[in-house]
Parts: sequence; C-alpha cells; structure tokens
Amino acid sequence: MTRSSATEAFRASFGVEPEFLVRAPGRVNLIGEHVDYNDGIVLPMAIDLGIWVACGSRSDDRIEYVAHDLGGLRDGFCRAEEVQRCNDWRDHVRGVAAAFSTQISSIPSLSLAISGNLPSGRGLSSSAALGVAIARALDHAAQTELSAQRIALLAQWAERDFVGTQCGIMDQLASAVGSAGHVLKLDCRTLEHALVKWPTNWAVLVVDSGIRRSLADSAFNDRTKACAMAAERMGKTSLRDASLADIAGHRSQLTQEETRLAHHVVSEIARTRDAASAIRRKDLFEIGALMRASHTSLRDDFRVSLPPIDSLVSLQNEALGENGGARMMGGGFGGCTVAVCGHEDLPHLQHVVTAGYRTPDGKKAWMYRAKPSNGAEVVPILGGRTG
Ligand code: GLA
Repeated sequence: MTRSSATEAFRASFGVEPEFLVRAPGRVNLIGEHVDYNDGIVLPMAIDLGIWVACGSRSDDRIEYVAHDLGGLRDGFCRAEEVQRCNDWRDHVRGVAAAFSTQISSIPSLSLAISGNLPSGRGLSSSAALGVAIARALDHAAQTELSAQRIALLAQWAERDFVGTQCGIMDQLASAVGSAGHVLKLDCRTLEHALVKWPTNWAVLVVDSGIRRSLADSAFNDRTKACAMAAERMGKTSLRDASLADIAGHRSQLTQEETRLAHHVVSEIARTRDAASAIRRKDLFEIGALMRASHTSLRDDFRVSLPPIDSLVSLQNEALGENGGARMMGGGFGGCTVAVCGHEDLPHLQHVVTAGYRTPDGKKAWMYRAKPSNGAEVVPILGGRTG
C-alpha cells in the first residue's frame, strides 16, 4: 500500500518512474529503556510499519524530495552547497544529506518521494525510520555500501546534531538491523547485535496513551546529563560499567537524583540481559515479571512516567496476571505502552484496554499488534531499474 503510494507520488511529482525503493521500519522496545545513551543493552524489534521512499537519479545538481503524507510538500537543495537548516520536518532529510556529504562522500543527485504507514508522534520512531530510509537511499545511489551500523549512526547524527533532538542510538539501529521473527539484543556501546528468536505463540501489544510527548523535552536532556555525571563521579566511562555495589559505595558523592537514575540504568541493563534469556527459554512468566519491574523502576527511580500511563500499565498487568506483562515504552511523559502475552490472551487484553481506558480527549486508545520484521532494505522495482 505505502510502496505504491510512494511510487505514485514519485510519478506525479517527477513525471518519470522511480528506479528503486527503500523501506525502513519503526521499532517497539520490549525492555531496556533509557539505557542506550549509557552504553547499555536494549531489546527492541523492528516492526511491520515503516517509511517508504521511492528514488530516482536526476541529471541536474539537486536533491528534490516530496512528502506524500504531508500533503505533497516539496523541498530541494543544490547537492554541491552546504546543506542549510529549515527548522521543520525537512531537517530530517537535510540532516542526513549533511551527514552523508560531510562524513561519507558527495551526495548523488536524487529525486525522492516519501510515504509510509508508520504514525508519527506515537513513540514508534518515525523520525528515526525516515532518517534511516534517506541514509540507505543515498548509500544505494552513491554505491558506498555502508554497513547497517554506519547507516544508523548517520541517521542519529542528523537527529541529534542537525535537528537538535536528543536521542540514543537504539531507534536508528533497530530500524537498520531488524530481522523478521526476531527481537534484537543491541549492545549500544559496540553497536553489535544478536538475534533472539521471538516465540511464535507470543504477541506484542502497543497501546497509545494519547498523551503526546516531545523528545526535545528538557527532561530527556537533564537525564542524559545527570547519568553522565553519575558515571563520572563513580570514575566510570558510562553507567554501563557501574554495578549496584558501585552506587552504594559512592552514596556520598552522588546526589539523590543521580543515585536513583543510576539505580534504574544499572538494574535495567541487568533486566534486559535476563529478558533475552527468558525469551530464548520461552519463559512468559519471567518476561512478564521483568517488564513489570522495568515499569516500576522507570516510574519511581527514573521518574519518566505519568499517572495516566501508570493506570494504563496497571490495567494491562491486572488483566494478564502472571501470564505476561506491560510497561511504559520509550522516552516517557506520554506515548505508548508495550505488553507481551500469549496469543490466546490477546483478545482479553485488548478488550480490557478498550473498556477501561480513555485518552485525554475521551477517545478509545489506538492499539497495534507489533510483528517483528526486517530492517531497512532496498527493494527492487519489478520491471524497473534498481539504481
Ligand atoms: C527515545 C530515544 C531513544 C531512547 C529512548 C529511551 O526513544 O530516541 O534513543 O533513549 O527514548 O529508552
């Protein structure tokens, strides 16, 4: 569907057929929250909703792009000149072009039509998916054969250093390296990943609280700084290297806030490792207990939840009992929750949320059953050229 809307938008805007398509997925994070920028371990999956970009070469010296889902908004710039900021959505494209031209090679002349079925603003990493898709498109057109890790780093640079939104590497890396039927155990220090087979009889339910959040929130920046400070006060490069004993031993050097934040990060990294083993063992009780503990830690120690999110999480945990678990997902202060349960319990869980939760504007919550999917890929056009 979005593949064809990207292709049609390309034809309508540029009057020719595209040469290749790129698809980059959003992500759901099962566990490992607020640990990526502390060099930690996270356990996300790339999902079956994503961004599609139809691409074709140009004979002039320009990058021209159109955003189908933003009413066909169009923008362009000369590839030989320094890429300028616009301070709006266009910077997600421009930022990747700036990263590519300064870090990899000159940008190829390209026309791009962007479309997708990944809703933005719900915490499913639509901006990371867009960045990864554009980076993969530039890489394919310029034949630079970048690794998935390099693609993720370019997209992260664009988000952090060009757009100015603080983020770790998890979202971009998950979008770049995802694998159908697997969750990803990502090491955010080395950028290495291991695939963990997702049990075919388990379901993942994402529920949007309807409370909008902004990543650029000062709260996110405050926490990244405080975590770095806590690590420094303990003489560590990052909180990845700290233990609970280190935190206890440095009580007098750490502020109360730093102690709580460090406690979350260190315990969450341990929970994430345990969760990877629990999934391998198909231990639904254990993964449920770890997700509930993750939520408690994010609420009480890291303090990024909100009372309505806590209620939405409790509602789901009460419905599941010990057969799975739910927690807040992503940066916090709104956005989605994520729950894991057996297939047979999914209808009951969905029913409980529909009956028991309303968004701030009184609506039923948007729910989505996530399926672990492949990461960003170049998709040939049937009957067309592939770049
Ligand atoms: C946001 C950031 C990620 C990560 C999460 C919290 O989604 O983009 O890099 O830090 O918050 O786990």
